[in-house]
Amino acid sequence: MCELIPPQADMTEDQWVRSGTVPGGEPTTPAATRTAPVLNLNRRTLLGGAVAGAALAVLPYGAAAPAAARDRAVDGKYPFPTAPNGNGEFAVLVTGDAGTGEEGQFAVAAAARDLMASEQIGLAVGLGDNIYENGPESAHDSEFQDKFEKPNTGIDVPWLMVLGNHDCSGLIPGSGGDPARGDREVAYATTSKRWYMPSRYYSVALPAGSGAHGSGDPLVEFFALDTTPVSSYVVQTDPYFHWDGPYMREQRAWLDGALKESRAQWKIVLGHHPYLNNGEHGSAGSYDGFTVGHYTSGVHLKELYEEVVCGRADLILSGHDHTLQVLEPSARTGGTRQVVCGAASKTGDGKAHFGLPAAWQDFASHGFMVLKVSPKGLTIDAYTVDVATRTAKLAHRTRTGTPVTAPAAVSG
Ligand SMILES: [Fe+2]
Repeated sequence: MCELIPPQADMTEDQWVRSGTVPGGEPTTPAATRTAPVLNLNRRTLLGGAVAGAALAVLPYGAAAPAAARDRAVDGKYPFPTAPNGNGEFAVLVTGDAGTGEEGQFAVAAAARDLMASEQIGLAVGLGDNIYENGPESAHDSEFQDKFEKPNTGIDVPWLMVLGNHDCSGLIPGSGGDPARGDREVAYATTSKRWYMPSRYYSVALPAGSGAHGSGDPLVEFFALDTTPVSSYVVQTDPYFHWDGPYMREQRAWLDGALKESRAQWKIVLGHHPYLNNGEHGSAGSYDGFTVGHYTSGVHLKELYEEVVCGRADLILSGHDHTLQVLEPSARTGGTRQVVCGAASKTGDGKAHFGLPAAWQDFASHGFMVLKVSPKGLTIDAYTVDVATRTAKLAHRTRTGTPVTAPAAVSG
């Protein structure tokens, strides 16, 4: 098990600490007599918890205009591709749960880097848990170098970055109980050539400059979500981030409108927590075996995916589980395909925990995927990586030629 799992759903972090189930915690001091947090976790954890209470700059939420992408080259940042590569495709590197700074991350990144030229990759995706264990302590934390820039040196393209639970945790690693910490990753995007996160949720259309704010229809549009406020292991204590609070209502309204208005042939949703998942964390609505409460089970993320995304996006790309899964679309998903790609630094426990239909899945390997998008089709190449040799092997390829939102064929 790679995450700390609370003893019951929707506890506050403080209640969880006092329950005596947090490794390193000292659980028995009565809350009324405590003057300081009782955790005995590492310095970064404690620092993170202390800093979390400080006021953060108010950053804009919502969609970023694709037009912003065109200016990146001028700003010294790696620019978004303005045209398909020599193969007539946009090739996108997909990674998830990468940010440990350990050998697994460096090996996966090295193996992916070796494909950059041959696959003509012009964009990358980081599906959350970008900075283990609690997210950065500031927008200038050295962890951005150690757990992102150094491993990904040579993968010199824009990275669409998504917030995960570890990026937004308070006292307990991975709790997801302090969403405001994610603003530091938004702020970091202003200084990095690679890291793209103009706001906590946003969209990007390719070719750069196409779409609602540019000219012409996009071939593909990505919709990056912040799933943690409705999938955290603990209850959200800031009313702004409540499951039915302003933030999630605004994000839902934005996503609904953005998907509706998008004229892209292919629509791809990026969200750290999966809708469907055969790995140990399970699917939204029953994460880690919890089926009650508003947060730990992910029931409201299930609603978001089912009511807003399914049948309107071709893919949901997620991490959180440290596995590689290309699940089959179904009537339940409205034709939307769930892909789990969270093995860029850690691996799963080697076995399937559920039996959702899968085109291919691997629960034991490190790896990444390459998405190839063209007018003719959407191809997912899944690679497993041997960490010792830092080499990748193409393990599976899935291809579809029909967008989910394509008009139904008229017979006769
Ligand atoms: Fe996660």
